[in-house]
Amino acid sequence: MDGRPPQWHLPAEPSDAGEWSNIQIRTVRFPGHPQETSENSVDIAHLSYVHGYGNVTNEIPVSIDGPYLESRFGFSTTRKIAKIARLNLEVTAIARVTGLGYSYVEFQELSIGIDARLWVLATPVDGTLIDMSIISQVREIRSPKRRIAGLGFLPRRMRAPIMNKFVADLQIQDVHQDVVVWSRKQYVPRPKLARSDGEVMKYRAYCAQFYPDLRQCESTAR
Ligand SMILES: [Fe+2]
Repeated sequence: MDGRPPQWHLPAEPSDAGEWSNIQIRTVRFPGHPQETSENSVDIAHLSYVHGYGNVTNEIPVSIDGPYLESRFGFSTTRKIAKIARLNLEVTAIARVTGLGYSYVEFQELSIGIDARLWVLATPVDGTLIDMSIISQVREIRSPKRRIAGLGFLPRRMRAPIMNKFVADLQIQDVHQDVVVWSRKQYVPRPKLARSDGEVMKYRAYCAQFYPDLRQCESTAR
């Protein structure tokens, strides 16, 4: 912006090492702003109230290093697979935000033993709408810790791609729940926050670096 050279770079792609599934891509278009969608990485309270997750934890403070922000949290949730099986999932997550349109999230599901990773990419379309693309991958599942819907009977090479479709569908369900809020909320520069809301103001201070003029931050994110 303003003719300046790039002030920061995207992180290097994580290693593939041939043990990750193919990718699944889901894209949703809705009224929103990339700053507000990435804010969910630190808005820990919404995991309970919007997505219905249980046992939400975030004991480690959000860390910031220049354009890189890292947020760690955990939660449990119960999900259906193909309307047949119900899965209780215990998840820890590390969200790494780089700028306002690029987040990379690593998930570890502890009870079955599934590693998944997501790229959450928000692209402004016309000043009102954004396209949010979720790209997911699941690591090869060698020996699931417990049986889930016959997963252990499938050839190993099929397990991660099938679970990746499940992960992608779950993520897009969550996005649709978030969109109800994102497409209606108003930007409040100094919101009244409860302690459970998470480190929203720390995130807002982080975002300011991406606006050469702070006043632009307030008007653009409205
Ligand atoms: Fe969310």
